[in-house]
Amino acid sequence: MKKKKLIVIIIAGIIILGIIFLAFNLTKDLFFKDKNPIVNKTDEQILEEKGVNFVSRENFLTEANTLLDKGYTADEINNIYEYMSENNIEKILNSDYVDLKDFYQISNFDFTKLDRYLAYQTLENIDMKDAVTRVNLNLDEPFYQTIEEIEDPSSITVLVNKSHALPSDYVPDDLVSIPSFPNLQIRDDAVDDFENLIAAAKLDNVYLIPYSTYRSYDYQERLYNGYLEDDPKDVVDTYSARPGHSEHQTGLALDIRSSSHWSNLTDSDYEWMLNNSYKYGFIVRYPKDNSTITGYKEEPWHIRYVGKEHAQKIHELNITFDEYYDLYLTKY
Ligand code: DAL
Ligand code: ZN
Repeated sequence: MKKKKLIVIIIAGIIILGIIFLAFNLTKDLFFKDKNPIVNKTDEQILEEKGVNFVSRENFLTEANTLLDKGYTADEINNIYEYMSENNIEKILNSDYVDLKDFYQISNFDFTKLDRYLAYQTLENIDMKDAVTRVNLNLDEPFYQTIEEIEDPSSITVLVNKSHALPSDYVPDDLVSIPSFPNLQIRDDAVDDFENLIAAAKLDNVYLIPYSTYRSYDYQERLYNGYLEDDPKDVVDTYSARPGHSEHQTGLALDIRSSSHWSNLTDSDYEWMLNNSYKYGFIVRYPKDNSTITGYKEEPWHIRYVGKEHAQKIHELNITFDEYYDLYLTKY
């Protein structure tokens, strides 16, 4: 009898607990719903409702809201985070709204130069992509106006031009004599490939002779000042670099002549050089029709070592080293 009673109590207890549990679940929304309406919404959901794709990065919610407040649409924000570099995003977040639609696809875009890009593009009526590269190379200004001192002068891919200067005391620490031309020196990194270049040319009956290779800052200064005795400065600047601005100071540039000429290549030897030098890591640095970019008249005789990988790409792209450096070797 006692046992039966106990069983009834247990069953009743289970039923009562079941009813309480059910009742709680059915009514809990009524009690809790309005007290905390977004308790289950993530940052991602909040932004998605506005059309902004969530990007997993610290402070994204704050950043996206900052951009919305500045007037950027959700699409614009999505493009900014898909295409813009970290440096540019930081600058965009700290500036007023600007229309960036022309720039998302331009990998070397630098937000700080936006006004210069727009002005130069309008002035020259060229593609925005070209305007960006040219402004990055300071070609919207007179040559030698903006000059940056090069931080890593011993890099094989160093860019030396009218707006990138080598320190006046820079001397490469691995200069070696060229075995076939022991009176001339270049960087050790380039010497084997140079010997291979002239050997390959010889097999095609092209006899290449280097005549000016590494030149110190002081030597370049004497050379440049010597030219000034014959020509006005604006003319000298079209064929000679000012001291600190010559690739010859890097030990990676060589002036090459044909055996039949005292300072230049014959047309056929130049043709050979244009078609083959890249295989040995060299480029023709001042090609025809590029003086608005390089700042120099064509120099068939001046070659520059950049290593095989880059030389091949520059050859394929058929662009100047200045443009290549900006497009492929500069972090924006
Ligand atoms: N002639 C080239 C530009 C130089 O002086 O380095
Ligand atoms: Zn030269």
